[in-house]
Amino acid sequence: MNILVVGSGGREHTFAWKLIQSHKCSNLYMAPGNAGTEGIGQNIAIAVGDFEGIKNLIIEKDISLVIVGPEAPLVDGIREFLLQDDRLKNLKIVGPGTEGARLEGSKDYAKQFMVRHGIPTADSRTFTKVTLPEAKEYLKTVKMPIVLKADGLAAGKGVIICQNLEEATDTIDKMLAQSMFGEASDSVVIEEFLAGIELSVFVLTDGNSYKILPEAKDYKPIGEKNTGPNTGGMGSVSPVNFAQGDFLDKVEQRVIIPTVNGLKKENIDYQGFIFIGLMNVMGDPYVIEYNVRMGDPETEVVLPRIESDLVDLMEATAGGTLSEHKLKIDPKTATTVVLVAGGYPDAYKKGDVISGIESKVDNTVVFHAGTKMQGESVITNGGRVLAVTGLGENMEEALDRSYQKASKIHWKDVYYRKDIGQDLMELEQ
Ligand code: AMP
Ligand code: GLY
Repeated sequence: MNILVVGSGGREHTFAWKLIQSHKCSNLYMAPGNAGTEGIGQNIAIAVGDFEGIKNLIIEKDISLVIVGPEAPLVDGIREFLLQDDRLKNLKIVGPGTEGARLEGSKDYAKQFMVRHGIPTADSRTFTKVTLPEAKEYLKTVKMPIVLKADGLAAGKGVIICQNLEEATDTIDKMLAQSMFGEASDSVVIEEFLAGIELSVFVLTDGNSYKILPEAKDYKPIGEKNTGPNTGGMGSVSPVNFAQGDFLDKVEQRVIIPTVNGLKKENIDYQGFIFIGLMNVMGDPYVIEYNVRMGDPETEVVLPRIESDLVDLMEATAGGTLSEHKLKIDPKTATTVVLVAGGYPDAYKKGDVISGIESKVDNTVVFHAGTKMQGESVITNGGRVLAVTGLGENMEEALDRSYQKASKIHWKDVYYRKDIGQDLMELEQ
């Protein structure tokens, strides 16, 4: 079968790497892909927001399965756009329609969904420009720190944790009155701060049944010991040692089952990934956010641990036959270390030549994120450039491999965190 992956990051390279391992994948297309996906599949220079271009490509290349990597095209209705064309009636798409995608596209909608279905989450209230004075009064009554969240998509930057009333009042002003995040902060969710350890849980659903994929922990801040501004993710690990047995059972019973049933009850036909950001608060799970896609760089540690054929799983997800499939998970540990351009997440340079990607370290895979080809060279083309995944019998071994390989890769001003997974290793001691 011919398959299309929409997107251009490390997540999409990982999908390509895993899909091509299936004998069912005849031709793989990437729109637009990156230097890492060229050669695995065929990169086609169509942007993720160019729905018309994507539709024409699907028709021209006789593509029968589409996997949508990032959230923006889902929130913007790519699913409905493609399926409304008679020629694409039988097209299978992994990724929800606009109604399901609101779980990520609006934090307020997600909150109300959780409240309707009794899913544990932090207490919150939502305010708009009109109710800004009430928001300021409300802030005087809450415990600090407090979390302010832009309602809409803000490229992962829309959450601000305020330590005191002055900071919170100033921030709510900037978000609501001064449109700090454009339209995304026309509404703001003010949410109780949850103290705990975070993890990400991934669910695949065809709208009826579901499969729980390996969990992962993401390292968002740029600096070691989780300091400095947030990034798209500087590394991740799977499995997560504190999230086994009893805790994962609670996640399934209290969060996953009510989420999938909630979608069904509300007649939201959902075929795709649900990425649940959770806080473990003294052994109990609370939902911080829903995303309607896989995480990046979590995909780079989750997919390498899935032994089952990914084409089978994707087809079953999009076709409503997931219950007929068994998910086989590799017990090994996977870790990934993200190599970024110097300066990221602030201003950074593009166009530096990367060397050492081909150097040999067993049990590692380099996934490209922001790269492109220039002649024979691979050059940097984004803030997050590469994700170096290592596999091992335990976290120490996997990390050792990731870091060995990372140390062989060079370009001017390359930077990566040296402490991915350290917090979890300390928990074990
Ligand atoms: P989000 O964009 O929703 O993933 O939020 C970004 C980050 O803010 C999360 O990864 C958490 O570290 C933090 N965060 C979000 N909500 C809360 C909360 N209620 N309590 C504590 N930290 C939070
Ligand atoms: N790594 C977090 C995300 O993909 O949203």
